[in-house]
Amino acid sequence: MWDKSPAFALLQLAGVALSAPSGGANSTSYITSDTVFYGLSPPVYPSPDANGTGDWAASYAKARAFGAQLSLEEKVNMTSGASSTLVNNGCSGNIQPIERLGFPGMCVTDAGQGVRNADFVNGWSTGLHAGASWNKELVRERAIHLGTEFRVKGANMMLGPVVGPMGRIATGGRVWETFSVDPYLAGKLVYSTVVGVQSVGVATSTKHFIGNEQETNRMPSTDDNGLYVQAVSSNIDDKTLHDYYLWPFMDALVAGTASVMCSYQRLNNSYSCQNSKLINGILKTELGFQGYVISDWTAQHAGVASANAGLDLAMPDEGFWMANLTQAVNNGSVAVSRLDDMVTRLMATWYYLDQNSTVPSPGIGIPTNLQSEHAVVNALTLKSKDTLLKSAIEGHVLVKNENNALPLKKPQMISVFGYDAVAPTSLDFSSTIYTTTPSYVNYTLWCAGGSGASNPPYIDAPIDALKRQAREDSTQVAWDFESQDPTVDTSSEACLVFLNAYAIEGADRVNLRDSYSDTLVTNVASKCNNTIVVIHNSGIRLVDTFIEHPNVTAVIFAHMPGQDTGGALADLLYGRSNAFGRLPYTVAKDESDYGALLFPAEPAGIYKMFPQSNYKEGSYLDYRAFDQKNITPRYEFGFGLTYTTFEYSGLKIELKKKASFAAYPPTKVIRQGGNVNLWTELVTISVTLENTGPVAGDEVPQLYLGIPNAPARQLRGFEKVTIEAGKKTRVEFSVTRRDMSVWDVVHQEWHLQSGEYRVYVGRSSRDLPLTGSFSV
Ligand SMILES: *[C@@H]1O[C@H](CO)[C@@H](O)[C@H](O)[C@H]1NC(C)=O
Ligand SMILES: *[C@@H]1O[C@H](CO)[C@@H](O)[C@H](O)[C@H]1NC(C)=O
Ligand SMILES: *[C@@H]1O[C@H](CO)[C@@H](O)[C@H](O)[C@H]1NC(C)=O
Ligand SMILES: *[C@@H]1O[C@H](CO)[C@@H](O)[C@H](O)[C@H]1NC(C)=O
Ligand SMILES: *[C@@H]1O[C@H](CO)[C@@H](O)[C@H](O)[C@H]1NC(C)=O
Ligand SMILES: *[C@@H]1O[C@H](CO)[C@@H](O)[C@H](O)[C@H]1NC(C)=O
Ligand SMILES: *[C@@H]1O[C@H](CO)[C@@H](O)[C@H](O)[C@H]1NC(C)=O
Ligand SMILES: *[C@@H]1O[C@H](CO)[C@@H](O)[C@H](O)[C@H]1NC(C)=O
Ligand SMILES: *[C@@H]1O[C@H](CO)[C@@H](O)[C@H](O)[C@H]1NC(C)=O
Ligand SMILES: *[C@@H]1O[C@H](CO)[C@@H](O)[C@H](O)[C@H]1NC(C)=O
Repeated sequence: MWDKSPAFALLQLAGVALSAPSGGANSTSYITSDTVFYGLSPPVYPSPDANGTGDWAASYAKARAFGAQLSLEEKVNMTSGASSTLVNNGCSGNIQPIERLGFPGMCVTDAGQGVRNADFVNGWSTGLHAGASWNKELVRERAIHLGTEFRVKGANMMLGPVVGPMGRIATGGRVWETFSVDPYLAGKLVYSTVVGVQSVGVATSTKHFIGNEQETNRMPSTDDNGLYVQAVSSNIDDKTLHDYYLWPFMDALVAGTASVMCSYQRLNNSYSCQNSKLINGILKTELGFQGYVISDWTAQHAGVASANAGLDLAMPDEGFWMANLTQAVNNGSVAVSRLDDMVTRLMATWYYLDQNSTVPSPGIGIPTNLQSEHAVVNALTLKSKDTLLKSAIEGHVLVKNENNALPLKKPQMISVFGYDAVAPTSLDFSSTIYTTTPSYVNYTLWCAGGSGASNPPYIDAPIDALKRQAREDSTQVAWDFESQDPTVDTSSEACLVFLNAYAIEGADRVNLRDSYSDTLVTNVASKCNNTIVVIHNSGIRLVDTFIEHPNVTAVIFAHMPGQDTGGALADLLYGRSNAFGRLPYTVAKDESDYGALLFPAEPAGIYKMFPQSNYKEGSYLDYRAFDQKNITPRYEFGFGLTYTTFEYSGLKIELKKKASFAAYPPTKVIRQGGNVNLWTELVTISVTLENTGPVAGDEVPQLYLGIPNAPARQLRGFEKVTIEAGKKTRVEFSVTRRDMSVWDVVHQEWHLQSGEYRVYVGRSSRDLPLTGSFSV
């Protein structure tokens, strides 16, 4: 029976699928009014028509002129994917052509690490690896090359970058695709990525909007009794949504992202792709989004409800629209202006990125399947080698280095152990080999599994690069990649042990460490007093089983560097590069330190058919939570070593005299990304850095602010700077109104706090030698 309470009526309006699409009418009996105490999505209708604000004006004029020439059926056809019906070109999704008007259609394809399921493309460093570089300029260059490969392969849109998940769940299965658990760091790097990819005429689809923090129950499923279980609901209050999860999406929007992909799971009990508050209210009104909302693949769960809630394009196939959308427009359930808005938004992006002249025939270089004939388009001929290597290098984080274990100096003999040192024994287009999540896989990880997996032309495995180096240095190399308890030649000057932590889309990780790999390390360490551990990790990987072993002299979190993994590592191990990264998350000592956020929410109790995940911790995630609970981490957010040392001095804080310090932005001018006044610089903070060590190196000075009525410290500035030995440099952080504000639920506005702001600058979230304050 349907509950007739007001909360329940609201749920209906919000588009919650009250009767399941198939096989589970009984599911509704689990909703009672107290179920929805936390996450309830208010209705926001109608969907705002975009009008081409800011630099979108010219594209909108062209898109409207184009749309005016379309029949109803042609318009409807453009709003659903044509992957299997009309086009069969190997792209993840297609928008069908309107040939009589000179529109060739659009190819939208996976993903943020490289063009998927294509030959002659590069396998780039993964999102988290890019995040660990903390290098905005490098991430922009990576994006330019990545985008160019999509373009030459005939892709109009890259299905990425990812800023959701953020990494709320420590074992989250897709954390490797995102940049960081910190919204500010993720925001700066997603900005660089969108700017870079779109600068070469390829659209980005920033995803997944929003709250896609766990893979478990991300989609509806059928339980053991054959009953329909809805996808998990991420229940996020308005303040947490703005202060944390929406933050990096705002940066992507300001950068001009042409598309936003709505996510699989429910948000406040309403499916993300039919959540009117989220799309109509927040994305299209508050943030003035001018591009189009694309559904994740099969994330559309209703026809009329999704259209009116602001979804613009259903993927991969007809979904719930096509003939039904035509009917809904004809019978008035969906306004014709809504359909026109969908088409205008889609076409506006095509004109905005000048794709008529820049993108070759959609999907030209992407084979339909591995056997079929296809146009050979070789993206490898682009000059990307330097950027590939640099981006592979900079996501390596050195966390331990004792007895000068590193860099290696022409050792006479090294030994190499562990399954992760070698490439897989075969390589083809399908790098997604495992359907479940083993803790580790038996070869080196250059990326992880799922739609974000890349297809590299080769893999330069660690052992390959170490052998090349051995040839240069006349070093003897011994190895054993199979034994968990290998024999160690006592002449070894160093023993390198390689392990990994795997993940795949669709599943969360089973743990944060595995005993097979840990035992491998301790076995080697018991026989070798210079054991160097390299971990290719898809997310947080705990090391406390072996980290204090006296013979474990060095540890590197290598993340997943892409195809040039071995060469990049060798450059660092042998000291040719000192451009190490920093941790984009916190490594705890113990699993329990992550509390309830170690594992995903599971269907349980009265919510068995409607799993709930309540984001009650608010913004207290990762280092904010460790600070709040006074937990000492093993390695804190922002931490990482180099082969040199840096001293900090000369903290200077300057308030911009002419700027408005009013509690709320002085005027409200909405452009894509929100009120333009949020980006006004209010404070400039600068420091002096000196390289006091023996060699040149890259430092990442970090600014944390203690904003009144907010977590104790939050990242609000960082730079990656190369400094020669003995040299000094001055680094400046620009702090904007948004950086100093918290979301005010009552005023529905960013609120600049009054009172004392604490200022901290240093090497990591817990190593902050310079402190100061200012008052507003
Ligand atoms: C619906 O599910 C509830 C809870 O499991 C159960 O008690 C009830 O018998 C079911 N009703 C029907 C009609 O299956
Ligand atoms: C989520 O739920 C909270 C509490 O019910 C509500 O305040 C907020 O506006 C909702 N947000 C969205 C996007 O539905
Ligand atoms: C365009 O849309 C924005 C955001 O919705 C709104 O502020 C502005 O007034 C609109 N402009 C016109 C000319 O309709
Ligand atoms: C719309 O798409 C359908 C299904 O792909 C196709 O059969 C039909 O011809 C298309 N209509 C127009 C006007 O292009
Ligand atoms: C694309 O460019 C061609 C050649 O200039 C032109 O004929 C065609 O109308 C353009 N297509 C659209 C949809 O604007
Ligand atoms: C149209 O709606 C009907 C009834 O909900 C559904 O069975 C069918 O699959 C839909 N067709 C399309 C093309 O969406
Ligand atoms: C209009 O058409 C849609 C799509 O087929 C259908 O779901 C809806 O019930 C119809 N509404 C009316 C009032 O007939
Ligand atoms: C890796 O190898 C070990 C030892 O041979 C085996 O037990 C394990 O199942 C393999 N893992 C995978 C994911 O194949
Ligand atoms: C490590 O072991 C080697 C012999 O394998 C020995 O020469 C060296 O002195 C040892 N180093 C330390 C620090 O104990
Ligand atoms: C460290 O390695 C040496 C061999 O170099 C070994 O003799 C010693 O027992 C190891 N120490 C520990 C604590 O395992």
